[in-house]
Amino acid sequence: MGRTVVQITFIIFLLVLASTQPNKDDWDIYSFHINSTVTSRYATTVITSRVANRMNESKEIEFHVQIPKNAFISKFRMFIDGQVYDGVVKAKEQAQQQYTEAVSRGESAGLVSSVGRTLEEFKTSVTVAAHKKVTFELTYEELMKRTHGKYELQIHARPTQPVSDFKVDVYIHEEAGISFINVKGGLSTNALANAITKTHADKQAWVYFYPTVDQQKMCDSCGDQGMNGDLVIVYDVNRDNGLGHIKKSDGYFVHHFAPSDLPRIPKNVVFVIDQSGSMEGRKIEQTRTALIHILNDLAEDDHFGLITFDGIISYWKRELVQANSKNLESAKNFARNIQDRGSTNINEAVLQGARMLNAHNREGSASILILLTDGDPTSGVTNLEKIQSNVRQAIAGKFPLYCLGFGFDVDFNFLEKMSLQNNGVARRIYEDSDADLQLKGFYEEVATPLLTDVTMIYVGATNLTQTNFSQYYNGSEIVVAGEITDNNIETFTPQVVAISSNRRIMFSNPNETVESTGTVSDDRIQRVWAYLTVKQLLDKELQLSETEKEKVKKEALELSLRYSFVTPLTSMVVTKPPGENTDVLHKPKEGETPQRRHFTGVPVNRRTRIQHVPVHGTGMAKFKHAPVNPPRHQAPVRVLKKNTRGPAPRVRVRIAANVPQATDVPLLHRFLINTENQTVPLCFDVSGSLQLKLLHHPSEELFVNGELDSVVNGGFNSIFIHFQTDHHVEIDSRGVTVREGQTVAHHTGQDTITAGSVTVVVHNKKIHVTAGKMRLVILVHEKNGNKFLWPVLKKHRSANDSEGLLAVKPAVYEVVQQVPVTKLKIKNQEIDVTSDNATDYSVDPPVTKNCWLMSADSALQRPLADFSVAQL
Ligand SMILES: *[C@@H]1O[C@H](CO)[C@@H](O)[C@H](O)[C@H]1NC(C)=O
Ligand SMILES: *[C@@H]1O[C@H](CO)[C@@H](O)[C@H](O)[C@H]1NC(C)=O
Ligand SMILES: *[C@@H]1O[C@H](CO)[C@@H](O)[C@H](O)[C@H]1NC(C)=O
Ligand SMILES: *[C@@H]1O[C@H](CO)[C@@H](O)[C@H](O)[C@H]1NC(C)=O
Ligand SMILES: *[C@@H]1O[C@H](CO)[C@@H](O)[C@H](O)[C@H]1NC(C)=O
Ligand SMILES: *[C@@H]1O[C@H](CO)[C@@H](O)[C@H](O)[C@H]1NC(C)=O
Ligand SMILES: *[C@@H]1O[C@H](CO)[C@@H](O)[C@H](O)[C@H]1NC(C)=O
Ligand SMILES: *[C@@H]1O[C@H](CO)[C@@H](O)[C@H](O)[C@H]1NC(C)=O
Ligand SMILES: *[C@@H]1O[C@H](CO)[C@@H](O)[C@H](O)[C@H]1NC(C)=O
Repeated sequence: MGRTVVQITFIIFLLVLASTQPNKDDWDIYSFHINSTVTSRYATTVITSRVANRMNESKEIEFHVQIPKNAFISKFRMFIDGQVYDGVVKAKEQAQQQYTEAVSRGESAGLVSSVGRTLEEFKTSVTVAAHKKVTFELTYEELMKRTHGKYELQIHARPTQPVSDFKVDVYIHEEAGISFINVKGGLSTNALANAITKTHADKQAWVYFYPTVDQQKMCDSCGDQGMNGDLVIVYDVNRDNGLGHIKKSDGYFVHHFAPSDLPRIPKNVVFVIDQSGSMEGRKIEQTRTALIHILNDLAEDDHFGLITFDGIISYWKRELVQANSKNLESAKNFARNIQDRGSTNINEAVLQGARMLNAHNREGSASILILLTDGDPTSGVTNLEKIQSNVRQAIAGKFPLYCLGFGFDVDFNFLEKMSLQNNGVARRIYEDSDADLQLKGFYEEVATPLLTDVTMIYVGATNLTQTNFSQYYNGSEIVVAGEITDNNIETFTPQVVAISSNRRIMFSNPNETVESTGTVSDDRIQRVWAYLTVKQLLDKELQLSETEKEKVKKEALELSLRYSFVTPLTSMVVTKPPGENTDVLHKPKEGETPQRRHFTGVPVNRRTRIQHVPVHGTGMAKFKHAPVNPPRHQAPVRVLKKNTRGPAPRVRVRIAANVPQATDVPLLHRFLINTENQTVPLCFDVSGSLQLKLLHHPSEELFVNGELDSVVNGGFNSIFIHFQTDHHVEIDSRGVTVREGQTVAHHTGQDTITAGSVTVVVHNKKIHVTAGKMRLVILVHEKNGNKFLWPVLKKHRSANDSEGLLAVKPAVYEVVQQVPVTKLKIKNQEIDVTSDNATDYSVDPPVTKNCWLMSADSALQRPLADFSVAQL
């Protein structure tokens, strides 16, 4: 039975794809080239796709590729009928303003979005006349980062159809000499392995990948739609063990410093591990596994500490101890017994970690603090700025703090800012089967400190990128770029001063002349400088307060514009023939579309956005809803009277800006119901400002109700929680109101609020509610300046005797008929459905999903009236 259903799902999925994919007969990608040139670890990649409209009528032709997150797009053009249409990089605000209309139509926003761990996608389309051709050309640039002793150039190829002239050309030129080069990735396996040619000659290497049409259909994850996968070029350069490599050109230099023959420095490392309730299940298991591996890798002269935390801090030992076998055994035992429980006191945990490192003698060693967490702070100090300032004070620049954010419930910005403020970096750990390997991989990057207090000095240079580095690890690399004053190589003197164990050492190499690119003028070194400067300014901006940000932002913006980089501050306006919609593309923020993290490579069509995403088995339905009516039907001022349980009814006034008076058409709110194991969720509409039962658990005396917004077609305008007769919490987008007996207290701003055993932690865009065993996160979304709430149930004791929308079980259905109307079978009942879209507001930012639309009663398998409540 299960199998049949799965097969049917798959067939349906293909049918849906087939009916919505651009028809292959309509247009033909007759040539697809990817050309990557790498010099001094700076890769410039050009993707060229040539497409012909084979039809008698004009057709919309799409260009859709995926590029590394770390890269900046620097050019995009289209050639149509002898005309060139060059994209223009503009300040983001300016681009947005200019094209607000397009943006509000939803045509232009998010043309670039994150996909998976390392990629983001670029998408645009253009209408091409009958029998005409179009050439798309996209250029992006990236400085490769050395980790684990190698560089990796990732090339993603998914042309969406087999292409007769398909080529990937990679050319690498490294003055230091290439020590090894390998080709990895899904496209280097099986039938495709034969399509790769690799040539390696000292300073240069070439990789050609020319698969035939047949080969393009035969590889893993390839099919009738051609290839879909990565080619990853892995290489390293020869190391001299002095000052490293300096390359200069046109008045700019870039210095790569990565000595490897130094002795390792003993390290002091403290692991601060989140064991709060949300780590439950696989996450905590993987953390234990990774921790045990990591402990096994510690060297005997290392010292270490282990702290686990939820609301309470647990120490394995109060002080750092030596990593001898006896201590390691005991620590591993401790690690095996880490259990999930309770809330998240990040502040106290990190401060205790810092205290342990501060108390330990750091002379001749390298100290490292590693925090692993999967959520926002929910106990102790919860104000994010306060935590950051406490941590900064406790660490005082003495050692780096690395923050590992597990999954997508973490406020990654917060972790990133906290790491950067303390000489570290933040890394996301993706919830997946290999999470333990990701954790271990990160640890290995910092496992072997070779130098501390590294100062890079360049006499005769200016406009330098970062020159001070608290630690240097084996397998990594320090890169500094700058401008040579007056382009005078004579006075330009690079030098590195650092501490190796207890010795102060200096690297300088007066004998070696600085290598120059010769007579050929090459702006690439200057672009490396610009790339690095912009990246570092963006990091710096993140750490600064609002008032200090402006200057740094301005500088980063100017450079982005000058070098035509699409960065988080700029956008590319895609120029098209007259009469077509303008596309404005922005660079997405890290982790902006969490849904896509499981992207399995099934082509996603622009028109339907079918997402092939495993449904999360929380056992709870997730509710989302889609905008149906545009907000122009709003009354400008709306007064709602509410009969709350408090002493007096409250009056709420909402002012919606700038909208003409209109008849009050009821708004439609669209909800999504996840499915047990189908790809496409169900959805249904609810009209008006209903008061809904979200979660009722009479035996626990827990009641959560919500009122749908009647002003914007967003989610809820308020959510009420009643717990154990006496505690009443009302949450709306402006604050939290607590009623206990006759006492009423209002709270606004970031705060932690308790009412009996109900705890509400308010962050900027997220509100955590804990009541007994229930954990609820209320996301605060914003649309057209109006805020609305969306509840997401994270944990509950049993869904068994709970009622309400949040307790609805994932749907189980089969598709029993496709034409003339689609019919789904749910519990022996056949229901007519239509394919539609819904916005999933249970994630931040929201994403649009394809869904099967039906009536609320059918989707819920009981009357919607059962979910309405008379009183909030
Ligand atoms: C869902 O998948 C599981 C295992 O993959 C299977 O046991 C179960 O029967 C499936 N349920 C439905 C409704 O297809
Ligand atoms: C790839 O790009 C480089 C630099 O623009 C150019 O010199 C080279 O000819 C291109 N290679 C191919 C195969 O197009
Ligand atoms: C294109 O037009 C020609 C002549 O008008 C016609 O014979 C042919 O069938 C058309 N082809 C398509 C694919 O419509
Ligand atoms: C650093 O890495 C290199 C090459 O990966 C290795 O040969 C060397 O032994 C490492 N140094 C230490 C101290 O582990
Ligand atoms: C580079 O430095 C010079 C002088 O130090 C300064 O005038 C110039 O503005 C700097 N350029 C940039 C792009 O920061
Ligand atoms: C870099 O370190 C040196 C010496 O440790 C110090 O004098 C200098 O101020 C530091 N520079 C920056 C920008 O922090
Ligand atoms: C520099 O050159 C001198 C003389 O040629 C030589 O003795 C010395 O070892 C060289 N130093 C380095 C660091 O290569
Ligand atoms: C779903 O959204 C896509 C754009 O993402 C749009 O092209 C399509 O028409 C929508 N489908 C429906 C039924 O509204
Ligand atoms: C659900 O309820 C039934 C009957 O009340 C009980 O037997 C079962 O153990 C419950 N399941 C869970 C997961 O609580």
